[in-house]
Amino acid sequence: MPLTHVQLRQKFADFWKKNDHKEIPPIPLVPQNDPTTLFTGSGMQQLVPYLLGEPHPLGKRVFDIQPCVRAQDIEEVGDNRHDTFFEMMGNWSLGDYFKKEQLTWFWQFLTEELKLPKEKLYVTVFAGDKKNNLPPDEESIEVWKYLGIPNNHISQYGPEKNWWSRAGIPDNMPAGEPGGPDSEVFYEFTEVKHNPKFGDKCHPNCDCGRFIEIGNSVFMQYKKNPDGTFSNLPKMNVDFGGGLERITMAIENKNDLFETNVFIKIILALEKLTGKKYGENKKEIRIIADHIKTSIFLIKQGVLPSNKEQGYVLRRLLRKASLNLHKMGVNIKEMFSLDEICQSVIDTYGKVYFDVKNDKNFIAPIIQEEMNKFGKALTRGINEIKNTDEKDLENKAFYFYQSYGLPLELLEEIFVAQNKKVNKEKFRAEFEKHKELSRSGSAGKFKGGLADHSEQTIKYHTATHLLHQALFDVVGTDIRQEGSNITTERLRFDFASTLKPTKEQIKKVEAVMNQKIKESLKVEFKIIPKEEALKLGAKSFFREKYPDMVKVYFVGDYSKEFCGGPHVKNTSEIEKIEIYKFEKIGSNLYRIYAK
Ligand code: ALA
Repeated sequence: MPLTHVQLRQKFADFWKKNDHKEIPPIPLVPQNDPTTLFTGSGMQQLVPYLLGEPHPLGKRVFDIQPCVRAQDIEEVGDNRHDTFFEMMGNWSLGDYFKKEQLTWFWQFLTEELKLPKEKLYVTVFAGDKKNNLPPDEESIEVWKYLGIPNNHISQYGPEKNWWSRAGIPDNMPAGEPGGPDSEVFYEFTEVKHNPKFGDKCHPNCDCGRFIEIGNSVFMQYKKNPDGTFSNLPKMNVDFGGGLERITMAIENKNDLFETNVFIKIILALEKLTGKKYGENKKEIRIIADHIKTSIFLIKQGVLPSNKEQGYVLRRLLRKASLNLHKMGVNIKEMFSLDEICQSVIDTYGKVYFDVKNDKNFIAPIIQEEMNKFGKALTRGINEIKNTDEKDLENKAFYFYQSYGLPLELLEEIFVAQNKKVNKEKFRAEFEKHKELSRSGSAGKFKGGLADHSEQTIKYHTATHLLHQALFDVVGTDIRQEGSNITTERLRFDFASTLKPTKEQIKKVEAVMNQKIKESLKVEFKIIPKEEALKLGAKSFFREKYPDMVKVYFVGDYSKEFCGGPHVKNTSEIEKIEIYKFEKIGSNLYRIYAK
């Protein structure tokens, strides 16, 4: 029997522990304090400050398995390998070991622990980037050769393929962003025939499906300078990421992610529920399975369907799932129960992520309601589209979008199915007019995770700690942080409180913050055991799991808070803060904006 994903997790953890790595808890799928991305999209996101040089509370060698959502991949789902929710297995050297150790360890893990056949593994290495004066990675080639990889299994590629930063190629990196050359390992599905549509010759990065990337060792060694050149980071780091799902495909030697043990239960549940065969409806069933699975993880983390940000992505996922049911000819009007589908995902992951007995009870109704609602709107919308005369139709996409909530990509599909086209320009013009992009708050945020460490956001970050403490002092000790979000323009802070804070109290909070700024308090951090930090009364964020050693930021003796930083050195740098908006956003939930 091939390893299951649960056994794979265990092997991964044991392997890195054996090699002196400490396990770090993954961060929530919806990251805190990072307005630049809707979802956590890679394992390294929480490590940026440490890759840039701050000391990590757990030392120089860490690993984890990080749940990720890449909403920008929604349109790719439907083939044999793309998914919107995935888990990234990661290990990091924070200024400790480098290429030789990393490549050797990963090779051992693949070939000795997972017992993947060596002859099916291929590696790629950075060929250099002349334009940016970045040299080819000769050292990795030497290491791979030393490990016994034959020359014809080693290829070199330019920055498009073998350079990694959150912004992509060197040219696209903003100043201050870390990045470096990487070396990837690919698995070959020998039974997949190369498709000449993708080029004369097959190679590891060919898109024909014969090869799949199963791990990426990034040598985080550079930082981009404001003048566009690159300099070395204070320390050389390794940032490794390997998709748990991709590695699972290799372990099972299955060229279809949806037939592996991370998907098969939901596929079978969908076949049973719809009475349709996976083999005959692959694309639709894959989309439904992926989107429902991702939705379950989002809801578990507190996201609800809405027209904004994360909630809007959730809504889109569930709508697309509904649409694909419809495409398969499943009548969504006679809505069936989605309980078993939800339970199949919960059972797949078991206690790794869920409360197996109870989670379905709160997750399934949310999915059910959203899909039912959309299913009904879909039927009404389609009937109206059918009854609209052809000439009119081209220009009416926006109307259908507004009246039935049918997004453009869905409308295009429905129109095409009826041999009709959408006048996209007109749609876009109307869309812009309604400022949908800014309302949904999603513009630009699908790119994923470029945490801004500009001076202004750092100031707001420290101001957020002051605000948290001031609310505690002025409004009451039962206030609880629910979320925080910082841009270069302002900070936003959500909190729960049993009593509604008065206007006077909010004024007082602002005054206390400015008083603390005036007092020029020193901001410092200490790395201490979690127990000790809790005893000191340091504030933590309830949605986050913390490791045994934690970093605590102290603002003078006024505030103490679990936090990765960075922060200003002295509160005087903030100069002045103004609370310019205070509102109620839910029952017992309040939001403050300050700048
Ligand atoms: N951070 C690297 C990636 O996402 C490992 O591929």
